[in-house]
Amino acid sequence: RAQGPAPTPPMGWNSWNHFAGKVTDADVRSAADAMVSSGMRDAGYVYVNVDDTWEGTRDAQGVIHSNDKFPDMKALGDYIHSKGLKFGIYSSPGPKTCAGYEASYGHEEQDAKTYASWGVDYLKYDLCSFGGIMKKADDANGGGTAAGYKLMIAAYKKMGDALKATGRPIVYSLCQYGVDDVWVWGPSVGAQLWRTTDDINDSYGRMITIGLGQSGLNSYAGHGHWNDPDMLEVGNGKMTTDEYKTHMSLWALLAAPLLAGNDLSKMSDTDKSILMNREVIAIDQDKLGVQAKQVYQHGDFSAWAKPLSGGRVAVGLINTSWSVRDLSVALKELGLTGSVKAHDVWAGKDLGTVTGTLSARIPKHGVALFVLTK
Ligand code: GLA
Repeated sequence: RAQGPAPTPPMGWNSWNHFAGKVTDADVRSAADAMVSSGMRDAGYVYVNVDDTWEGTRDAQGVIHSNDKFPDMKALGDYIHSKGLKFGIYSSPGPKTCAGYEASYGHEEQDAKTYASWGVDYLKYDLCSFGGIMKKADDANGGGTAAGYKLMIAAYKKMGDALKATGRPIVYSLCQYGVDDVWVWGPSVGAQLWRTTDDINDSYGRMITIGLGQSGLNSYAGHGHWNDPDMLEVGNGKMTTDEYKTHMSLWALLAAPLLAGNDLSKMSDTDKSILMNREVIAIDQDKLGVQAKQVYQHGDFSAWAKPLSGGRVAVGLINTSWSVRDLSVALKELGLTGSVKAHDVWAGKDLGTVTGTLSARIPKHGVALFVLTK
């Protein structure tokens, strides 16, 4: 089938994790500027996504307008495009967004046309207030969840169809936290990605819970349609460097969208080196389009393997304990036999031939990330 606008997992930036409800037009423009000047654009990050709180009111014709923080959405889109970047926004299938702003309920086609006229390339569509509509339907049908789920899927399809009808390629990102196994029906409503969980935050505990929780979803990802374990927190300051490397490695292994969620205008060299590690990005973006599988989980040790093009395999060994550990995994648990050539991705170093067992000394909450070649 056609791959649509996201043949590999989308890469870019989203305003929510750092700016949340305070985001302004100026913040978004400075993110676009920094995406270019930092080298992120050239590393593959192209979407500049405005999350919730841009929305204003509808005019007499029902056309949505942005609020005072965003004086001119078309001009903002033009500015982003002028930098060789793409423009994303946010709405909800319900009457209100998660932050309580005007959303798309009953205005789906009109909003899709408005977004297209602004040059929008990406829409994140967030369930929130639609929950009330679902509950009403469930109550009217004697309880359960079936009636509400049916409405939810129809509402997501409505916007998916409306986006398609604009004729503009617009990435369609579902945000409903994995309700009703979205990974099963997401492609049928025209989505290229769907959130699988509730929100991430800038803590190791939340990040690792979400990341390791993706085990078992690998078969639902593939060219043009991706599981979304939520946006990156790298650079937001509340995790250690090792923890952020684990975050970035795990998201790359998971073929997750890589949407930076930090203030791009204030990045340390360490933040940049994590977000822009070319080899890690290449694992995420590999053209085979396969999501890693958790091949081993025991106590504080989790191992993941992601088949890559050219018969290579990316392997992540994660130490979730509070102390340094020597961890190892048998090649046969990774589906490999005999000997392989190992490359340590974060060290950027070839390790030579490995036979039988792959081992590494890994700091607390850290990762060892390898690419293995036959
Ligand atoms: C939900 C989403 C977040 C963000 C906020 C905005 O919580 O999951 O990613 O978009 O809404 O209100």
